[in-house]
Amino acid sequence: MTPAEVASRSLRGTEDPRRLGRLVDYADFRDAARRRLPRGVFDYVDGGADAEITLRRNHEAFEALEFRPRHGRWIAQPSIATTVLGMPLTMPVLTAPCGGMRLVHPHGDVGIAAAAAEAGVAHVATTTSGFTLEQLAEVPGPQLFQVYKVGSDELMRSLVERAARAGYHGLVATIDSAVSGHRTRDHHNGFSQNLRIDLRTVVRLAPRVATRPRWLLGFIRDGLPFTVPNTTLALPGGRPLDLPAITRTTRESLSPTWRDLEWMRATWHGPLVVKGILTVADAERARDLGADAIVVSNHGGRQLDGVPATLTALPRIAAAVGADLEVLLDSGLRGGADVTKALALGAKAVLLGRYPAYGLAAAGAPGVRRVLELVREGLVRTLQLLGCADLTDLGGVVAGSGWEN
Ligand SMILES: Cc1cc2nc3c(=O)[nH]c(=O)nc-3n(C[C@H](O)[C@H](O)[C@H](O)COP(=O)(O)O)c2cc1C
Repeated sequence: MTPAEVASRSLRGTEDPRRLGRLVDYADFRDAARRRLPRGVFDYVDGGADAEITLRRNHEAFEALEFRPRHGRWIAQPSIATTVLGMPLTMPVLTAPCGGMRLVHPHGDVGIAAAAAEAGVAHVATTTSGFTLEQLAEVPGPQLFQVYKVGSDELMRSLVERAARAGYHGLVATIDSAVSGHRTRDHHNGFSQNLRIDLRTVVRLAPRVATRPRWLLGFIRDGLPFTVPNTTLALPGGRPLDLPAITRTTRESLSPTWRDLEWMRATWHGPLVVKGILTVADAERARDLGADAIVVSNHGGRQLDGVPATLTALPRIAAAVGADLEVLLDSGLRGGADVTKALALGAKAVLLGRYPAYGLAAAGAPGVRRVLELVREGLVRTLQLLGCADLTDLGGVVAGSGWEN
C-alpha cells in the first residue's frame, strides 16, 4: 500500500467496532498494546530512560493535582475548539512526533496523522518516521515537521528545505536529545542502539515474535520496515539508516543546537517551535530567538532521567513567557482530565505520544480514532463537571501542594 492508500483506507479498517468500544481508557489501550505487540516493541513504546523516575513523576504530577469544581452550573456544550499557531483545532490536542511507529502497526504514523486529521487536530511528523516526510505530508490536515540533526548540518538543512517544499505548516526542533537516552528495557530486550538488523538478530528474536503472529504477519507484509527513509542522505551510497543505527553512527548532536535554531529562524518562514523546554532560562532563550511556541516536554521520560515532571515545570515557564509565545506541554497525559489540568496551569494545548501509539498498536488508525474520541469526551465531561464553559474559564479549578497558582 502506498502512504496515500494507507491514509485513505486505514480509517475504513476492518476492526470490530464493538471490540474497540470496550476499550474505554488509557489503561485499556495500554493493555491491548501489550497483548498485540512483541515485548521488545511494546517496551520500546512504553519504557523510559534509566530508572524511569521521570516517567513515573509525569503521571504522579497529574495525579497529585486536584480539581476545585464549581458545582451547580449546567454547561450543555463546553466549547473546546482553539487555535494553535494559526491552525484551527477542534480541541487543544496535537499528536506528538513518535519514531518507529511502523514497527507498531503497518499504518504507522500515516495512520496516526490520518486519524488526527479526521478528528480536526494537528499531527507532528517525526524525522524518524518509517515513511518519508513527503509521504506523510500527503495526509490531509495540518501538520508540523519535527526535525533532528541526524549527524550532519547538511542532512538537517536538507530536511528543513524538504519540509518547506512539502508544505508543512511549522517546524518543531526537539532540543532534548543531544544523544539518545539510556532506555533500560530496550537494552534488556536487545532492542537498543546496539541492535543490528541482520539475520542473526532475526533468528535470535524469532521465538519472542512468534507469540504475536498477527503483528508478525503485518510486519512481514509491510516489508520489514526497519529503516528511516528521511535519513537517506546520511550515507554516501544514498541508503537510509535503520532506527538503531541513527544514534549509533551519529557523532554530532542528534538535536539541533541553539546555533542551528538561529539558522532555522532565519531560513524558515513559518511557525518555529522548540520542543524539550524544562526551565525558564531555556524558555526565555527560545522566546528571544524568535520562536513562536515551545513544548514543555521531557520526551515522555525517555531522555534525561531525573528531570521534573512537565506539569510541575509548567506554571513558572508559563508565567515567564506565556504572554510572548504559545506554551504547549506533553509527557504523561492519560486523558481529557489531564488535558484540562495542563490547560489550567497555563498550556495552550497538549501533545499526546504514547496514548495514540497504544491506539495504533491495538487496531491501527481506527484505534487512534477511538483514542482521540475518548480524549475529546473526557475533556468535555471534565469541563461540565467543573462547571467551565470553555477553555478560558479554567482559573482556580486546580490546586495541589507544590503548585504555585
Ligand atoms: C515511541 C516513541 C518515539 C518517540 N519519538 C520521538 C521523536 O522521534 N521525536 C521527538 O521529538 N519526540 C519523540 N518522542 C517523544 C514524544 O514526542 C512526546 O514528547 C512524548 O511521547 C510525550 O509523552 P507521552 O508519551 O507520555 O504522551 C517519542 C515518544 C515515544 C513514546
